Amino acid sequence: MPIETIRWRGGVPGSLELIDQRRLPQERMLLTLQTVDETWEAIKTLAVRGAPAIGVAAAYGVVLGAQGARDSVDAAAAAALAAAEHLATSRPTAVNLFWALDRMRARVDSERGAADPSAFCEALLAEATAIFEEDRETCRAIGRHGAALFPAGARVLTHCNAGGLATADYGTALGCIYAAHESGRGVEVLACETRPLLQGARLTAYELREAGVPVTLITDGMSGFAMQRGKVDAVVVGADRIARNGDVANKIGTYTHAVLARRHGIPFYVAAPASTFDLSLASGADIPIEERDPGEVLRCREAVTAPQEGVGVWNPAFDVTPAELVTAIITEHGVIQPVGEAEVLGVVGEHARR
Ligand code: MRU
Repeated sequence: MPIETIRWRGGVPGSLELIDQRRLPQERMLLTLQTVDETWEAIKTLAVRGAPAIGVAAAYGVVLGAQGARDSVDAAAAAALAAAEHLATSRPTAVNLFWALDRMRARVDSERGAADPSAFCEALLAEATAIFEEDRETCRAIGRHGAALFPAGARVLTHCNAGGLATADYGTALGCIYAAHESGRGVEVLACETRPLLQGARLTAYELREAGVPVTLITDGMSGFAMQRGKVDAVVVGADRIARNGDVANKIGTYTHAVLARRHGIPFYVAAPASTFDLSLASGADIPIEERDPGEVLRCREAVTAPQEGVGVWNPAFDVTPAELVTAIITEHGVIQPVGEAEVLGVVGEHARR
């Protein structure tokens, strides 16, 4: 992938460098983060977004917290835990955030006997880097499993951005598409623009074009007509949190595409790592859904698109697709099909958050 979404610069002390996704596709600018507050802000405002990338950024954010308090191991550990607590308030839905912070907290506990504060911080950096590296491997494995599900020449609809920009590298839903493309299967993508924040138009269309994958952009309301006209062979999306029964929270609009796919007999695939499963939740009804600033709906980027006063706005950032509409969930450990609690536990039971 030509896009390096996120990377740590230096050792301890070091800094976190991200592509500022708020500015894409007009500008490809790097953002350098030195503090926990800057990391929190970058996650909250979607400078870095997508469930796995949020987890990776938060893990490195804990290192930023610890390295700013290197007077003693105890001080660095307290700062790391405070950072984890604060970063956990940035966005509620993507469970990868909490999964990554849990890993960092466990590492804080196991490193309390470190020889000195620098060694302690280096251990935390090693853990964050492991989360980053594992995500790269995970996306490649998801890609391998997912590509096999697409027939040659498949026209695949996707929503939001579950690509290299949303992960450490390569992506989940787009990982399946990249792997199919690389194996010469000749896939084409129909990318839904994804109002209100246009992750499909700004990010998915951008990174597919960079990778040379044929992509056609449509607005979200066009997906049903595209299916009715026979322009879609499969749907693949990412996920922010998957409950034990296989219900899937993903970007608002996903549920609509799933209902339409079922109506038209089109397979609806979800691609996600084990770190996106929350086995403590029995169903999607329990998944916390982020509600964002009404201004995101009243405007489109800087353009005013609605009366600015006197109109109510509801802006949920995610919806929940019931397991019964999901043909299969593609994970790094294999494909879950059919989708139900026993099958979910069978494939990711040992690997996911409980
Ligand atoms: O609000 P965002 O842009 O963070 O939402 C992202 C999505 O909904 C993605 O589909 C999901 O996080 C999976 S990313 C591999």
